[in-house]
Amino acid sequence: MTSDRTSRPRILTGDTPTGKLHLGHWVGSVRRRVELQDSHDCYFILANMHAFTTRVDQPGEIRSDTLEIVRDLLCMGIDPERASIFLQSEVPAIAELTFLFSMLLPFNRVMRNPTLKDEIKVKGLGENYPFGFPLYAVGQTADILAFRPVAVPVGEDQVPHLELTREVARRFNQKYCGVGDKVEDADHVEEGGVFPVPVADVGKVGRLVGIDGANKMSKSLNNAIFISDSAKQVQKKINKIFTGRQSPTEPGDPDNVLMQYCEIFIPDEERVAELRRRYAAGDDIGDGHIKQELGAAVNELLEPMRERRARFENDSDVIDVLKRGTVEANRATEETLAMAKQAAGLGFFPRTLRLD
Ligand code: TRP
Repeated sequence: MTSDRTSRPRILTGDTPTGKLHLGHWVGSVRRRVELQDSHDCYFILANMHAFTTRVDQPGEIRSDTLEIVRDLLCMGIDPERASIFLQSEVPAIAELTFLFSMLLPFNRVMRNPTLKDEIKVKGLGENYPFGFPLYAVGQTADILAFRPVAVPVGEDQVPHLELTREVARRFNQKYCGVGDKVEDADHVEEGGVFPVPVADVGKVGRLVGIDGANKMSKSLNNAIFISDSAKQVQKKINKIFTGRQSPTEPGDPDNVLMQYCEIFIPDEERVAELRRRYAAGDDIGDGHIKQELGAAVNELLEPMRERRARFENDSDVIDVLKRGTVEANRATEETLAMAKQAAGLGFFPRTLRLD
């Protein structure tokens, strides 16, 4: 590990393994993570235990999705020398803090979490979800606080989880660390709290629309361009984007999905401005031409990722990255756990677990 890593402000974020990553992940979160590696002490969690909330019968898929996401992250430029990618299931402090934190949250408060409610609705869970489903929201507060991070870079949909996390941090600090209830969030640690009250760092480009132009890009909606797609597949998918425009002289909607993609993926801003102007005016520019240009730009972005993929073809290399990241994660979280136990009167003796 680079020696100056630990002096940097710490952040934590991550993913529940649900399948391979696509351009929506790149735009919405991973691009930002790659940048943050330069300035922050970064931890990226694979929330593989959370995957069991809705897929308890698919342990094999959860395992392969987990490895696939790590592979995608590495391809996209997450650098295991500068950031720790780790397995939630191998960090015991997270499970222990989940138990403790669950005592600080009224059951009704957990169930009021809009992200949980939404998931129940979208996934049609009705009343048929396991106890572990609401528990995962509590678990996520532990994923985060176990690292005592200053910030959590996430998409809009995760903000309710962050709100819950902030409540847990405040309550813990107030109950067990003598932090007054008038103390500002930013001053909790200074006033003796174990946990900083972390802020949600919500990305500017929250969500990327799928190639259907209607819904958020998502594997399950069949509208995604995957990081692992070949150049040919990428162009083919882009060619499928439907704009309803008939001819190069028909004025187009400069904010439609095709133009949005140009804005995001064509780096030359002047060129994009020109495309938009001509598109809106119907100035002899066809969708087919634009799709070629867009396809080339997307493939230029993905090409270095394809090259990196070759280095991580073997599962054993991916597992090795996870193993190293998990050692770092345990180092950080065992420290937090000892502090939290001490504060909550649970510090009877230092423990002698070996985590390597
Ligand atoms: N719930 C997040 C998602 O589905 C994944 C996640 C688990 C997470 N623990 C986290 C994200 C902690 C940020 C911080 O995408």
